[in-house]
Amino acid sequence: MHGTNGTNERNNIKDTQDKKDIKGTKGTNSLFITFEGIEGSGKSTQMTLLASYLSSRGYDVTTTREPGGTPIGEAIRAVLLNPDFTEMDYRTEVLLYAADRAQHVAELVKPALARGSIVISDRYLDSTIAYQHYGRGLPLDFILEVNEQATEGIKPDLTLLLTVPVEIGLKRATKTIADRIEREDVEFHERVEKGFQELAKREPERWRVIDGMSTVDEIHTLIIQAVEPLL
Ligand SMILES: Nc1ncnc2c1ncn2[C@@H]1O[C@H](COP(=O)(O)OP(=O)(O)OP(=O)(O)O)[C@@H](O)[C@H]1O
Ligand SMILES: [Mg+2]
Repeated sequence: MHGTNGTNERNNIKDTQDKKDIKGTKGTNSLFITFEGIEGSGKSTQMTLLASYLSSRGYDVTTTREPGGTPIGEAIRAVLLNPDFTEMDYRTEVLLYAADRAQHVAELVKPALARGSIVISDRYLDSTIAYQHYGRGLPLDFILEVNEQATEGIKPDLTLLLTVPVEIGLKRATKTIADRIEREDVEFHERVEKGFQELAKREPERWRVIDGMSTVDEIHTLIIQAVEPLL
C-alpha cells in the first residue's frame, strides 16, 4: 500500500524476491507500520517492544519517529517543539512538519522500504491531520496538498492507534518541561483524539484501534496479532 500512485510497491518487491528465493526468506518483504495516538498513549513503549519482537524473529527492522528521524528532521523538531516559540503561525507549523516529513521519507523511509526493511514510525502524516486539522482547525486541503509532495505518496500498510483518555495520556506524558504542543489545553487534545478516531473509522482496512488502557503486555500481544498477517 505504500507505493506511489496507488501501486503496491510491497507486492512488487515481494514478487521480485519470491522469484529470487522461493522459500521467501524472512526480512526481505518491506512493510511500513506507523504508531499514532495522543501524548502518553504508549506509542514509544509499544514501538520498542514490536521492533524487538520482529528483530528477534530475524526481520530487518528500521525504527524512526516524526518529527525527527533524520539529522535535519531532529533540527526541525527542535524548532517545532520549542516552548519559547509561542508566536509560531499555524501555517508555519504545517510546513515545518511537512519539511520534516519530506526529508524523512526521502532520506530514511523510502530507502529502507526499498531494501526490504520493516519500517516502524512513531507518528506520520495522520498526526498532522489530527493535530493541525482536527486540533487547530486548519483546512484539510492545504495539509493534504503539501503532504502529497512530502510523502511522495508513501502510505503506511498498517497504522496502530492507541487510545487513552486525554487526562491520563497527559498525566503519563508529563515531562520536566512540557513542549509547545503539550502546553495546549485539554480541549485541544480532545479534538486531536477524536480526529484520530475519525481517521481510523474512514480507513478501517489500514487502521487498528487498540485500547491503550490495557497493560503493556496485553497491548503488545494485540499489536503482534495485527502485524502477523502482514509478515
Ligand atoms: N499500557 C500502559 N499502561 C500504563 N502506563 C503505560 C502504558 N504504556 C506506556 N505507559 C507509560 O506511560 C508513559 C508514556 O508512554 P510512552 O512514552 O510510550 O507514550 P507516547 O505515546 O510515546 O508519548 P509521547 O507522545 O509523549 O511521546 C511512560 O512512562 C510509559 O512507561
Ligand atoms: Mg513517544
